Parts: sequence; C-alpha cells; structure tokens
Amino acid sequence: MERGTIVKVAGPLVVAEGLVEARMFDLVRVGEQGLMGEIIEMRGDRASIQVYEETEGLGPGDPVEGTGAPLSVELGPGMLGAVYDGVQRPLDVLERMVGSYLTRGVTAPGLDREKRWAFTPVVAAGAHVVGGDIIGTVQENEVIEHRIMVPPGVEGEITSIVAGDHTVTDPVAQLRTSDGTMRDLTMMQTWPVRVPRPYMRKVSADEPLVTGTRVIDTFFPLVKGGVACIPGPFGAGKTVTQHQVAKWSNAQVVIFIGCGERGNEMTDVLMEFPELTDPYSGFPLMKRTVLVANTSNMPVAAREASVYTGITMAEYFRDMGYEVVLQADSTSRWAEAMREISGRLEEMPGEEGFPAYLGTKLAAFYERAGKVETLTSGETRTGSVSVVGSVSPPGGDLSEPVVQNTLRVVKVYWALQDTLAYERHFPAIDWLTSYSLYLEKLRPHWDADVSPEFRVRRDACMAILQRESELAEIVRLVGLEALTAEEQILMETAKSIREDFLQQNAFRDDDQFSSLKEQDLLLKTILLFHEKAVEAQREGAPLKGIFSAPVRERIARAKYLAVKDLGVYDEIASDIETQLVSEDGEVA
Ligand SMILES: Nc1ncnc2c1ncn2[C@@H]1O[C@H](COP(=O)(O)OP(=O)(O)O)[C@@H](O)[C@H]1O
Ligand SMILES: [Mg+2]
Repeated sequence: MERGTIVKVAGPLVVAEGLVEARMFDLVRVGEQGLMGEIIEMRGDRASIQVYEETEGLGPGDPVEGTGAPLSVELGPGMLGAVYDGVQRPLDVLERMVGSYLTRGVTAPGLDREKRWAFTPVVAAGAHVVGGDIIGTVQENEVIEHRIMVPPGVEGEITSIVAGDHTVTDPVAQLRTSDGTMRDLTMMQTWPVRVPRPYMRKVSADEPLVTGTRVIDTFFPLVKGGVACIPGPFGAGKTVTQHQVAKWSNAQVVIFIGCGERGNEMTDVLMEFPELTDPYSGFPLMKRTVLVANTSNMPVAAREASVYTGITMAEYFRDMGYEVVLQADSTSRWAEAMREISGRLEEMPGEEGFPAYLGTKLAAFYERAGKVETLTSGETRTGSVSVVGSVSPPGGDLSEPVVQNTLRVVKVYWALQDTLAYERHFPAIDWLTSYSLYLEKLRPHWDADVSPEFRVRRDACMAILQRESELAEIVRLVGLEALTAEEQILMETAKSIREDFLQQNAFRDDDQFSSLKEQDLLLKTILLFHEKAVEAQREGAPLKGIFSAPVRERIARAKYLAVKDLGVYDEIASDIETQLVSEDGEVA
C-alpha cells in the first residue's frame, strides 16, 4: 500500500503528502499506531484526513498509509445486539482486548470471524440470482431472521449452496457469472458507508408508523419510511421519546445512533438502552437493535462516521424486507463536528460558523430514509427506513442553523417545549407548533383501518386546542368571566384533551402504548362529552354541574384502562348521555 507523510496536525485533522493514488473518502492508517482516518479533501497529492481517534502525539514526518478503499461497514449476522463505535468496532470486544479506556489504533472486525451461524438455503443450485435476491436465512436470535442476500451488482447462476454452520467468511454458495467466472458468496457483505445502498424504486410512504404515543400518532403522525425531527432543549424529553418510538413502533429493526458530547449523555444510552424490553417479544429490545455509540473519549470526527455507519446498516435491513427505524440522538453533535472540521480545513464559514454544506449533508442523510421496493429478481419485496433525528440547539433556540436546515428536509416536526416539561406535561410536544406533512397520505389508511371519523375528530380536537390558546390570552387579560358559557366549555374540553389524551407517562405500563383504535375512541369520548355539555348548557344546566359530572373521572381514567376491552367506551358514552341529559332535559 502506498505511504505518505504527515506535514501538519490540527486537532482531529491531519494533512499528509505523497498519497498519489488515494481518492476522496478513502480510509487511511495514520501514524505508527495506524489510527483510522478518512480523506476528506484532496489537493494534488496533499490529503486532508479526519482522524477517528485522538491525534495526540502525531507529528510531521509520521507515516500515513492508504488502504485503497473507502470507509466501509461489514454487514451480516452478528450485528443485532452489538454496540459499535462510529467505525463499527464492537465496543465489548475492544474492551476485552484493552480494558475500558480505548487504546488507539486497536481494531476489531465488525462481525465476529469465529462464530458459526446455521445457514438454511432458500434457493437451489441452478437458480439464476441477481443482487438483492435472498439465497438463505439465518435465525440470528429469538426475534429476527437474518436474510442472506446476493450483494448489489452481482449476478449469475448458483452452482452450489450448502446448509449448515458457517462463519461469516465461509463460502455458503458458489456462483457462475455471465462471463463464466466463479465467485464465492459468503454471509457477509461490505459496503462503503457514504454510498446509499441501491434499491429498485422508492414508493410512496403511506402506512402509519404506529408508536403508541398518542400525541404523535393522532396529531403529528409518522409513516414507515418517513422522516421526523425532534428538537428540544436539554431535559425536554428527546431521549425518552426516541426510546418510546424504538420500543413500541411497528418496525422490526431499530438502529440507534448515539452522538453524545457530555460523557454522561452517552453513558445513559449505553446503560439504558440494553435495559429496554421489547414489548412484542418479551426479549430485550437489543435483540432487534444495533447501537452505534460515540463515547466522549472519541474525537468529533467519529460522529460523522457513526451517522453514515448507522444509516448504511439501516438500509441493509431494509433490503431484507424489514421496516427499520433509525434514531439519531443528537444530530447537533454531528453538525458541531462538521463545524470543527470545516474550521480546521479553513473553509469559508456559513451561518454561525457551520459550513455552507451543512444543509446539503443533512438533506443527503435524511434522503436515505424511505420506503422502497428492494433489488430482487423475484416477487416484489418492500422495506423501509424511517429516520427520527433529535436536535439539541444551544439554549433551545429553534432559529439556529441545524434546526432550520433539518426542517427543510423532514416532514414531521415534534417540537419539545421546556415550559411543558416544567409543568410535567409529557411528552412535552407542543401541539401548537408541531406538524406532520403525512396527514393526507395517511387518510385512506385511517379511514379504512381506524375509522372514517378519526381524521375529523383529530381536526376537531386540534381546532379546540388552537381556540383554547386564543381564549387563554383573553382570560389572561380580562379574566374567565369574559368568556361565554360555550367558550368556558371549550376551555374545559381543551383541558381534557391535554390531560386525558395528550399527556402520556412513558414509565407507566398501563399508559405507554395506545393503539390507533383506542386513540380514536378516546377522542370520540372527549368530543361526545363536549357536545353533550354544550347541549345541556343550552338547556339551562349550570356549568358547575356539567363540569363536575362523575363521568369526567371515568374519562380521565380511560387512557389507563386503554383499553383491552374497548366496550368500556360504550359504557362511558352511556354515562355521558345519562349524566348530562336526563329524561326531562335537566342535568342530573
Ligand atoms: N413521556 C414521558 N413520560 C414521563 N416522563 C418523561 C417523559 N418524557 C420525558 N420525561 C421526563 O423528562 C426527563 C428528561 O427527558 P430526556 O428524554 O432525558 O430529555 P432530553 O433527551 O431532551 O435531554 C426524563 O428523565 C423524565 O423524567
Ligand atoms: Mg437526551
């Protein structure tokens, strides 16, 4: 391999000369220890390299070795349950090798080379296969079947294929390509992380990614293959929300990219995520999760690698036909890394010192989400990658460049408000400023599978919440007496929507998850009370009596009962009828 020489070291950035064959984004080994780095600028034979490990001790004259290949990940059985760093080194393996403080230059392959996996072929010798075709399966663990695919771009006739226990590098099949050359297929593929994995075509993402979190599913829903961002100040609930989505959403595979700056932020993820239980299988959520973590002793450049490593893994599971949800927490840390590297490259800074290409890079990352028809020569197979990125703007300032550039590309915005978090209104998603651009796409699905009224009820409740905020302003200025009786009922209903529907405790087993049907029935109940309250008031019932009807207690508890037996909503409805409208038209 060709060698160059370091001429300059500036923090995580190293400049080297003499690498003539190297290309942009090639992986290089830096210094005597062979630290991992990636070429991010090339001028003649002068390469700027971002180094994924501490550069301390490196200096001019030290060697740099090209590898002739771009930064890539290994894809195959063994990824699920793993905790990797940004360049796919398994943290547990590294720890066993060198102790908990990572020694520089240590490498370990992303996939275990010793472990054997029971491979079951699904095609036979003689089959003609193309990239994307599934040739066999491995039951990777109790929860997920790993589908072994022909790598993209490869095509030919299977000449042999063997069931049995194999390592990821053992040939499991042989292929004769059209020009007659033979090629071994293994269970492992490698893929350059900066290149999106190919697919047949993108298709419209119109199925709900049900999260069980009511404010999300009903008011600001996400679709399978959709993109959402969740900005909010420290402590507003970004991580809890992302955990809930990871745990409960109707996706099969979870990729969690942790980009922490403060040491303890990352420790939280490393401690908490492995503790989560998968509510569907009862096994640890890690059985269907890959965690990509940047610990605080890793240099900033590694954050960038982790984002690409994570999304490439997500695409790989998508290609098998899975629904994948990728969470990046927090993308601000990645953006800050870009800013630092860009500064070292002495590029022309854009807004607030971020590079001018910040928006382009964020967009390119989110564009790798989507629902696709995968590569295959057989029956159509679809898979999706949904992306939820958290953003932690300094001081909660939503006008800063990372939030603004993210909003340009995402279609769902869950705005976390610290004022709500202070009031213990969780999830602290602000219903007045959040949005989802998927509402229309979801309409047919909602109409058919939830109820034709669901969208109407959702909009009615949203209108009530918006009206509440206008009326609240009046109340603040001139007092509650300034409101008409009907307006006071509306205020009461809005309160009920907030407390009985929007608020949801992520730590209560009986409140964590509501199905769409439950969400619809809960809205229906709240709106029925509203309607009957207005009628009763028109017929002369005093507001006090209406507001203190015993059924309100049942409505408030409905979300907890929420509800293995949906019949409870009929009972509540009949209570509303009897308590608010007695036979002679008087309120009971
Ligand atoms: N849905 C929720 N239910 C109950 N408590 C919540 C919820 N969301 C957030 N919290 C509370 O807020 C705290 C901070 O949330 P966290 O997700 O760690 O914030 P962030 O990641 O934005 O800094 C949590 O430890 C928890 O006490
Ligand atoms: Mg957090």
